[in-house]
Amino acid sequence: MANGLAFVILAFAIGVLLHSANAQVPAVFILGDSTADVGTNNYLPASTFKANFPHNGVDFPFGRATGRFSNGLNTADFLAKFYGFKRSPPPFLSLNGTSAIKRRSFRGINFSSAGSGLLDMTGQVTNVVPMSEQVYQFSTVYNDLVAFKGKSETEKFLAKSLFFISVGSNDIIGNYHSNQSIPKEQFIPNLGLVYEKYIRSLISYGARKFGIVSVAPVGCCPSQRLYTGTGDCLDDLNDHARTFFSTMDNLMRNLSCEIKDLKYSLGNAVEMTMNVITYPQLFNFTDVKSACCGNGTLNAQSFCTPTAKLCSKRHKYLFWDAFHPTQAAAKLAAFTLYGGGPQFVTPINFAQLAQA
Ligand SMILES: *[C@@H]1O[C@H](CO)[C@@H](O)[C@H](O)[C@H]1NC(C)=O
Ligand SMILES: *[C@@H]1O[C@H](CO)[C@@H](O)[C@H](O)[C@H]1NC(C)=O
Ligand SMILES: *[C@@H]1O[C@H](CO)[C@@H](O)[C@H](O)[C@H]1NC(C)=O
Ligand SMILES: *[C@@H]1O[C@H](CO)[C@@H](O)[C@H](O)[C@H]1NC(C)=O
Ligand SMILES: *[C@@H]1O[C@H](CO)[C@@H](O)[C@H](O)[C@H]1NC(C)=O
Ligand SMILES: *[C@@H]1O[C@H](CO)[C@@H](O)[C@H](O)[C@H]1NC(C)=O
Repeated sequence: MANGLAFVILAFAIGVLLHSANAQVPAVFILGDSTADVGTNNYLPASTFKANFPHNGVDFPFGRATGRFSNGLNTADFLAKFYGFKRSPPPFLSLNGTSAIKRRSFRGINFSSAGSGLLDMTGQVTNVVPMSEQVYQFSTVYNDLVAFKGKSETEKFLAKSLFFISVGSNDIIGNYHSNQSIPKEQFIPNLGLVYEKYIRSLISYGARKFGIVSVAPVGCCPSQRLYTGTGDCLDDLNDHARTFFSTMDNLMRNLSCEIKDLKYSLGNAVEMTMNVITYPQLFNFTDVKSACCGNGTLNAQSFCTPTAKLCSKRHKYLFWDAFHPTQAAAKLAAFTLYGGGPQFVTPINFAQLAQA
């Protein structure tokens, strides 16, 4: 997906925390799915849920398949760079107890889990940690921080840190394709209420800076285009993503009226992505429909494997595989979140959020 939050397994050496003398915020906490993983495991029967094999990583240094569903770097990698960090934060599950938070180099934790959703029932497959559990995991980190630094220092630290959240795609795709699918007029506001509950929990622990990315027009992923028979986007599914954005927009406005020191950026992944799909030439893309790596119709009928067909001009493609953006698309998404105008990221962009 082109909003590109392809937060795919980054294979961090344990203990290699991000650090940089000139990072713009003290720490980054990441929650959510690995947006670009939208339902990979649920909707591709053959999916192995892994990407630690070629052709993935073909444009990564030394062509390493790190586990990212990408030919190279993902949006998180680029955003972390823009924020002045050397790399994205390590997964929660790779940390051993409390030692990590006691290091001077502590710069945040990644709680996000590929395939997860706002609803506990979303992506009930192995290794998926739903938002409820991620927020719980954060609460344990909060308690450790309080025990280590005291409540007031902890809250000062957290208030300046960035909480980056990208979630909802798996819930929306799951509901859309479910036998008992709930109409969007009912389903999306309900998702909003669940989201609100988690944001309020984080606020209660001291979080004040939120970088939120709404759901991308998932109906334009090659995998979803297969459903239309014409290769066009599945507009109906995109409408869910649009409704989700306006729900989040209202929710965040309301919360920021109520909580005076709340700062946020809300990325409009629908606008960002549709802009690229409508004007591909402006961004030097020549193919915004099919997967670069795969097989069959739109190269999207099977996943990217070592024997799949690989496009030659990878930087000309929006989609790497049936669900995930290319490195070029991921970079563009990060660039837009960081420096984009109000039609793409509102009320301020991620660069302004760092300073806010
Ligand atoms: C966060 O961790 C999850 C689980 O290990 C991983 O799938 C995801 O790619 C990571 N995201 C980032 C930005 O590091
Ligand atoms: C965490 O614990 C595991 C298993 O005990 C160990 O192999 C690993 O080196 C530890 N990592 C750190 C960063 O201490
Ligand atoms: C959904 O409907 C299909 C076709 O009617 C059926 O094969 C499948 O078992 C149903 N799945 C669930 C979870 O009810
Ligand atoms: C925002 O607040 C308005 C006015 O109180 C309310 O009608 C609306 O439902 C709220 N929307 C969300 C998403 O919280
Ligand atoms: C597109 O390619 C041209 C020529 O290589 C380059 O000058 C331009 O900066 C590129 N535009 C984008 C948005 O990458
Ligand atoms: C790709 O599709 C062709 C034609 O259907 C098939 O012969 C081939 O085995 C497929 N390759 C892979 C890697 O799935």
